[in-house]
Amino acid sequence: MAETKSPIVDIHTHVYPPSYIALLKSRSSIPYIRSFPPSSSLRLVILPAEDTESTSRGRPVGSEYYDINKKIEFMDTHSIDISVISLANPWLDWVPADEAAKAAEGINDEVNEECGKFPGRLFAFATLPLSGGKDVIGKEIARLKELKYMRGIILGTTGLGRGLDDPELLPIFQALQNAKLPIFLHPHYGLPSSVWGERANDYGHVLPLALGFPLETTIAVTRMILAGVFETVPDLQMILAHSGGTLPFLAGRIESCIEHDAHLKAAGKLGNGRKTVWDVLKKNIYLDAVVYSEVGLKAAIQASGEDRVMFGTDHPFFPPLEEEGEKWASVETNYEAIKGALGGGSKKERAALGGNAMRVLNLNSK
Ligand code: URA
Ligand code: ZN
Repeated sequence: MAETKSPIVDIHTHVYPPSYIALLKSRSSIPYIRSFPPSSSLRLVILPAEDTESTSRGRPVGSEYYDINKKIEFMDTHSIDISVISLANPWLDWVPADEAAKAAEGINDEVNEECGKFPGRLFAFATLPLSGGKDVIGKEIARLKELKYMRGIILGTTGLGRGLDDPELLPIFQALQNAKLPIFLHPHYGLPSSVWGERANDYGHVLPLALGFPLETTIAVTRMILAGVFETVPDLQMILAHSGGTLPFLAGRIESCIEHDAHLKAAGKLGNGRKTVWDVLKKNIYLDAVVYSEVGLKAAIQASGEDRVMFGTDHPFFPPLEEEGEKWASVETNYEAIKGALGGGSKKERAALGGNAMRVLNLNSK
């Protein structure tokens, strides 16, 4: 029997649909899009740490952020068969409460329609109306069943405003578990800017993106583990951006700190039935392969298993700074890391490049 080609699936790839771009252009505080005269080119300013001179106020924003045809072009250039697109940060976190329901419906419908223009090539993670409160969020989760291309939801680390260890979030996690919708957890807020020191303005985006993002993810998931979320919602599935931040590397230390904590012991939290950090990594967590090195990827594979890592690009972020030919170094680096860690042409490599995503996100049913 002829071997069918195994697909390459990008599970970490963003869009700002046209209606979201219009919203950003109407604003003058973060997040916003505007030009800074004398230049007429538009800049996207979304991160708390990037409204500064050294980041030249955010980053340039061109059609690759909102034109779905550009996504397909990028996929073709990089041999990507299927993309699971998600609204980029900061999602709808900032939308006033009474506008959240309508904004989420509009964005999710629009993204679903864009997927429908390229059936079989595009699927999506939906966005939740977090500021609208629990009932509004629950309604949108229920509505996602009607949207053919939705395969999960993208979530930041603030939840309802108090982080992901907030007990108020449990019914939402339960609804996602019951609907079999995985959470794609993605950072945005980083760490307080004071940790970057007095010279932070000289260092561009490096500290918040290279360290703030991964630590934010690590802290958010560790807080969920400490709060017992994965015991209360045992089948909750999470896909962590950037290979889990630093969670695979720090899992042993976190677990050891838990086991040696007198307060947790006195509170009866160390007994039978506790899921260890390793249990959570192997049962509840998937990791993208957006870590740009074999070392980091091997840690991810060891922590969660080779059947739980999935290729991603983070497009349209991290474009080449200069025109360098068609292929993006940021993408090639992740391809190389997968090849190096799992063996070029191997079954394990094919699983990380697409097989795992096809299975976990049910991408065969269009
Ligand atoms: N920068 C962002 O703001 N978001 C991403 O997803 C990647 C880089
Ligand atoms: Zn991203």
